Amino acid sequence: MEKGDIIAIFGREPSLSLWELDRILNVPEFRLLSRELAIFPSNGKVNEVDLQKRAGGLIKIGRVQGEAESLEQLEVLLEKSWPDLIPAGSTARVNFGASAYDAGLGPDRKFRQELGRQMQRLKKYLTTNGRSARLVESKEPTLQAGALVQGKILKQGFEILVLRTPEKIFWGTTETVQDIAQYGFRDFGRPSRDSLSGMLPPKVAQILINLAKAKTGEFLLDPFCGSGTILQEAVLIGIRKVCGSDISQKAVADSKKNLEWLKKNYPDLKDCSMEIFESDIKNLLEKIKPASADVVVTEPYLGPPQKGRAIAGNIAPLVSALSRQYVLWLEILAKLLRPTGRIAMVWPYFRLENHGYFLQIQESLNQIGLKIIAPPPALLNLPWFKSTPRGTLLYSRPDQVVGREIVLLAKNV
Ligand SMILES: C[S@@+](CC[C@H](N)C(=O)[O-])C[C@H]1O[C@@H](n2cnc3c(N)ncnc32)[C@H](O)[C@@H]1O
Repeated sequence: MEKGDIIAIFGREPSLSLWELDRILNVPEFRLLSRELAIFPSNGKVNEVDLQKRAGGLIKIGRVQGEAESLEQLEVLLEKSWPDLIPAGSTARVNFGASAYDAGLGPDRKFRQELGRQMQRLKKYLTTNGRSARLVESKEPTLQAGALVQGKILKQGFEILVLRTPEKIFWGTTETVQDIAQYGFRDFGRPSRDSLSGMLPPKVAQILINLAKAKTGEFLLDPFCGSGTILQEAVLIGIRKVCGSDISQKAVADSKKNLEWLKKNYPDLKDCSMEIFESDIKNLLEKIKPASADVVVTEPYLGPPQKGRAIAGNIAPLVSALSRQYVLWLEILAKLLRPTGRIAMVWPYFRLENHGYFLQIQESLNQIGLKIIAPPPALLNLPWFKSTPRGTLLYSRPDQVVGREIVLLAKNV
């Protein structure tokens, strides 16, 4: 580990966060991977602010500052270096905190308690040295994005990231944090929302776009655009040419309204090309040139809402019907895709009485000319990395009957 290395802290679905990061960085050299974080050299190329804005799976990003043999040594170091950690020229109260990460080791309560006591001592040290200080604490071992923002930690203080590895303690500082208010604005602030057919959270839309490795000059298509979440997140990430279609007139109207709203709120999007029209996907080949889409990012119909009345006897036929439907849709998507194109999409899966029901599509993929792109072995072999046997990742809340299977596909050439 070296000073200046990037520390990327994962969100609630670490496997998905890591896969997304791996696809964004393009052949990364990870120095350390744990369930909570990834550390990798910046090589002067990684801008943490840009990375934070586009990576839906990262809660915060920091930089390695140094190492210590013990917590006592870290305490001495912090007493010396705190003036360099606060924003330059700030005379305001120093708001600070610490998060402990078990980077490669199991949790250690004693270590965390000692770190807490150490931070209390640092606060005392600051106040006795004439500097007003506030320690922001949490019941959790780590400070979440909300606590960092509300506690104004990055504005007028610092957060120490303490990484307990098998060899040493490394420490770093948090440089950026996920902008929860922005995500909320892009989700709940939109003029048109459709909670009935379901909307993808903007963070998940970002993850899909990143998995597809969508690039600025490429053409991105969402043929089940709903209220336009994927199109919105794609243009914000910098994809300048997007097209959305949907069978529902209301969905098309919603998407159009939402993207107009987006352009008003984000003026640098004015020169983006955003086309939206009504169409059943089965007619799309008459409207979009075959082999023209660089990336398809989409969340199709997930079946009827299941809450409270799902029984196994109903799920099996539903899965068969959806599987047939998805095979037809994938045939069309394969024809719309360029030979080098990628598809990142959601497939529904159902969980009932601890049993998972998955779409049965795999056998047809070969015939369609598509293949599943699984995460690389370096990720799949991590003991905590969770993927399905077919190389997809699952995303759902524990109480949900309908979950999202995140699937990355490419042409089978
Ligand atoms: C789960 S929603 C997509 C939501 C979208 N990702 C969002 O965040 O707003 C699925 C969408 O697929 C559309 N749809 C269903 N069958 C379709 C078809 N055959 N062709 C095109 N769109 C279809 C529905 O109208 C619905 O808007």
